[in-house]
Amino acid sequence: MRYIAVKNVVPGMIAAKDVYSNNGKLLVRQSETFSITLARNILDSGVSSILIEDRRVNDVRIEELIEPTLKFELYGILKSIYENLGVVQKLWKDVNRQEQLAGFKEIVDAKAATDVMGRIINEIDVISDMKNVNFDKEIILVESNDLNEYLYLHVLNVTILSIAMGKIMKFPKTILMLVAQAAAFHDLGIVYVPKEILMKNGRLTAEEYGHVKTHVEMTAKILQAAKGAVHSHVMTTINQHHENVGGTGYPAGLKDNQIHAFAKIISICNVYEALTAKRPWREAFMPHSAIEYVLAGAGDLFDYNFVKSFTHLIPAYPKGIMVEINTGEKGCVINPNKGVVARPVVRMFYGKDGRELPDLPEYDLSKPEHQTKMITKILND
Ligand SMILES: [Fe+2]
Repeated sequence: MRYIAVKNVVPGMIAAKDVYSNNGKLLVRQSETFSITLARNILDSGVSSILIEDRRVNDVRIEELIEPTLKFELYGILKSIYENLGVVQKLWKDVNRQEQLAGFKEIVDAKAATDVMGRIINEIDVISDMKNVNFDKEIILVESNDLNEYLYLHVLNVTILSIAMGKIMKFPKTILMLVAQAAAFHDLGIVYVPKEILMKNGRLTAEEYGHVKTHVEMTAKILQAAKGAVHSHVMTTINQHHENVGGTGYPAGLKDNQIHAFAKIISICNVYEALTAKRPWREAFMPHSAIEYVLAGAGDLFDYNFVKSFTHLIPAYPKGIMVEINTGEKGCVINPNKGVVARPVVRMFYGKDGRELPDLPEYDLSKPEHQTKMITKILND
């Protein structure tokens, strides 16, 4: 199987996996043959790429780290928590008034969210031995065209990424639950930032950015009101999720070891997720561009060791994507070589003259004999 941009799907292609919309509706079943209508339905739902069968990469199978049904269950729960909070916010504009704070307890202390997160943690089957980079399953983030859904999807994706990263770092389940909670609740205070600012199609003014920054303090207030709902580590993590190891973050300008390990995880996942999502003012970054940003920020924005772990989780060039290399040959990534940034194994389909290569040669770009080769383009068809 391999990826293809939905806009390039032609009738007769076969779905290699079930395709769901961002709210969990099944759009296409695995093994179903595409018609024009079917392809258009998927495009309208905001899904940008899907997996199709291709005999040249029949042996390449992409397994999801987290079952889609479980992801959508968590999505529904997170969405209702954030939506309810939005309703409370509209009723009581002043977060400091005592009577409204009591109302937060019920919203935030969501047993259902904790339950699903526990199941997700059990589900994630990451082989945590960093020496044998062998964990074969992929994290597939949920995407949507609907900008109004972004907050919920962002929180869902950051939660999934953070749990998986905690798993790679060999955290036990009790600790993973705290990481998951912190990730799930990290942006609760965003509901207090005016929508016009969040959805602004352009650069924020200093004043508007100042308003966005208050979401950290607002989240803390909401969680303080929901006394007992979260552990003190979760509170600390949420307070620090915009701190940078170089001291340039907010609200406190903390540095290096002053920042909680969970916050270092969430900070990377938060930025990576935000870059790979479509925003009102820009298109989504491809994984390799987002990874490049995260790598460039190592030691300055993010903790170097945590960035290293992240590259074991999210490859720059995921398995199944079509690429062109600097020789002009085109092919499909069959092994991302996780942890070795941007040097995957590629099976070539077409030579530099555009003709099909019947013997499908493979280049492991991490090997010295292929060191002069590099990926120059991601292909969508
Ligand atoms: Fe945030």
